[in-house]
Amino acid sequence: MPLDFHGKVAFVTGAGSIGEGWGNGKATAVLLARQGAKVFGTDINPEALTDTGSAMARENLSGHWSSCQCDATSGKSVEAAVARCDRELGRIDILVNNVGGSAPGDPITMSEELWEKQIALNLDSVFLNCKHVLPVMLRQFEEGGSGGAIVNIGSVGSMTFQMGGRVSAAYAASKAAVEAFSRSTAIAFAKKGIRVNTVIPGSMHTPLVENRLARQLGKDDLAKLIAERNASVPMGRMGDAWDVANAVMFLASDEARYITATQLVVDGGLTAARPA
Ligand SMILES: NC(=O)c1ccc[n+]([C@@H]2O[C@H](COP(=O)([O-])OP(=O)(O)OC[C@H]3O[C@@H](n4cnc5c(N)ncnc54)[C@H](O)[C@@H]3O)[C@@H](O)[C@H]2O)c1
Repeated sequence: MPLDFHGKVAFVTGAGSIGEGWGNGKATAVLLARQGAKVFGTDINPEALTDTGSAMARENLSGHWSSCQCDATSGKSVEAAVARCDRELGRIDILVNNVGGSAPGDPITMSEELWEKQIALNLDSVFLNCKHVLPVMLRQFEEGGSGGAIVNIGSVGSMTFQMGGRVSAAYAASKAAVEAFSRSTAIAFAKKGIRVNTVIPGSMHTPLVENRLARQLGKDDLAKLIAERNASVPMGRMGDAWDVANAVMFLASDEARYITATQLVVDGGLTAARPA
């Protein structure tokens, strides 16, 4: 069977969803479980994890799901979650660094505190989870098995100077850094059976976007803005969490065994249609 994850353990950060429906992390967790993986989900919000657990149960996938609360920006918290996954499931084959989110602001309008929070959320979280998962993957490789695959989540916000009419300088900078970090880490572990790649989503219609836009713009503007976002994409519509999850699944799979240190843009043609 292609894209078969039976016997594999996937560690997914931000495996809940910020609101009702399907965010990228939740969809990725469920998709990997459908393909046979044992998924260990972490999230700062325990209720979001319970919600993903319920989605798993509705598809009779409870046997493929375990989770623990974890703040992806705290080294101690990540270390404890990785140790628990390793103890309970015995290995980690796939790491999906999904935690992230944007806050608007340029260097004048953004406070130092918010800048640091953005870098922590989008970049430190990737570093910390790699820091603690890589030794597990290395151990597996040195014991004669396969090492692992890491998929980090970037954003077209790293390539376009503004999204949705708002400048988000810290988000752009941190997501660009995720791509560079991924390539660098991929080269460091290329001979150790570990692949590292980045999925770069475009305008996705996920609960996080809807909640953030609803908060920032108000309900009336939201419908208009969603229509504008749809119209701005060459394919005529935003993507959804499943589009991101499918790209993550491919890069995490054995079928992608010769693919490392690269990026997969999932944006319906958005970046290609804009001036650089
Ligand atoms: N939604 C989009 O349109 C879009 C576009 C481009 C990139 N992305 C990226 O995709 C990823 C997922 O975005 P999403 O909108 O699908 O969100 P999501 O629905 O996957 O939710 C993210 C989850 O992360 C959790 N979380 C937040 N802070 C955390 C922390 N410190 N530690 C652990 N968990 C934490 C939240 O509780 C939430 O459950 C992010 O990296 C985002 O930047 C999203």
